[in-house]
Amino acid sequence: MSLLITGGTGFIGSHTVVELLALDKDIIIVDNLANSSTLVLDRINKITEKSVTFIQADICDRQAMQQVFQQHDIDAVVHFAGLKAVGESSAIPLSYYHNNVSGSVTLFQVMAEYGVKNLVFSSSATVYGENNPSPLDESMPTSATNPYGQTKLMIENILFDLASSDEEWSIACLRYFNPIGAHESGLIGENPNGIPNNLLPYVAQVAVGRLAQLQVFGDDYDTVDGTGVRDYIHVVDLAKGHVKALEKLSKIKGCVPINLGTGNGTSVLEIVNTFKDISGQEIPYKVVPRRAGDIATVFADASVANSLLGWSAQYDLSTMIKDTWRWQSKNPNGFE
Ligand code: NAD
Ligand code: UFG
Repeated sequence: MSLLITGGTGFIGSHTVVELLALDKDIIIVDNLANSSTLVLDRINKITEKSVTFIQADICDRQAMQQVFQQHDIDAVVHFAGLKAVGESSAIPLSYYHNNVSGSVTLFQVMAEYGVKNLVFSSSATVYGENNPSPLDESMPTSATNPYGQTKLMIENILFDLASSDEEWSIACLRYFNPIGAHESGLIGENPNGIPNNLLPYVAQVAVGRLAQLQVFGDDYDTVDGTGVRDYIHVVDLAKGHVKALEKLSKIKGCVPINLGTGNGTSVLEIVNTFKDISGQEIPYKVVPRRAGDIATVFADASVANSLLGWSAQYDLSTMIKDTWRWQSKNPNGFE
């Protein structure tokens, strides 16, 4: 039996594939390479001394997906494939709805057609919207403030409806907080196209000299130092959360949302200062006005993951930043 990993050459997918290969799982990756490169496959092979089956295909392509299920005996799907840039999603919403929502519906239809009803889905803390106080827990109402967030919310709702219509489905909807870090080998890590939108890749590129200065979006929030607070989680912890979810999937009935976060909040300036100490590099920054749509504080209540999956995050902030820096300094231009 094989595991199908959509989006498996991306940031979180590649780290999850490494953890699954360590357990001798048979892996099929489907990725259209919209935001990744096949070079990651050589790196995965270097780390694990194992290989995967790679199929370059789009999850929106029904025929291609049917062929994947026809040719392989698939037991469960981990569905990472999606577009994820919040700003871009407001500029080209139809591409986001098509790729993320239509693509997911096509994937779920093909899964149903071939009787594969075990799924782990990449959701996001973005579904908590802007009105819930942290710590955020899975019982809180959901909402979205941008097209990217809407796609995650729509897919979650589709999955809740699907699971209520057919009790054979077992679905873990994993709501990630802020994934950072990289594999300790420094061989795989986050490799954003163009100028990074997210804090950590931006800071790392300033430290390595690719970007001149960080803009800190607001220092007048009601937080420890006025800058935004987030729940940063090591990508390897996140990957291990997927392994646990797959192990427990047979016990999950229906569609269950599960937070994957550490439960701790860290401010932008705490990140900048820790990065500076660990890398020994200056991180010049300038405080600019708040970014539209940002909220002061976001962190998880991670107790459901602990009780349901027996999972909790293990890596501390210093390890997350050491690993980010090792990846960035060894690969200043990403996989190129
Ligand atoms: P990523 O861009 O590195 O990986 C996504 C992968 O999906 C890429 O390799 C891309 O080429 C592929 N892909 C996109 N559309 C596809 C399609 N139609 N068909 C086939 N492949 C396609 O992103 P990531 O950070 O690894 O995120 C993985 C998932 O987790 C995404 O669904 C994202 O929305 C979600 N998520 C990410 C974060 C984060 O901050 N990184 C936070 C919450 C949720
Ligand atoms: N920030 C800066 N400067 C930057 C980038 C970010 O000051 O150049 C600040 C933000 O204002 C925020 C914090 O750093 O306070 C983190 O910002 P990110 O963009 O790294 O992350 P977000 O929490 O805004 O959003 C991320 C993903 C979303 C996902 C969400 C889940 O980008 O896709 O986490 O919690 F939905």
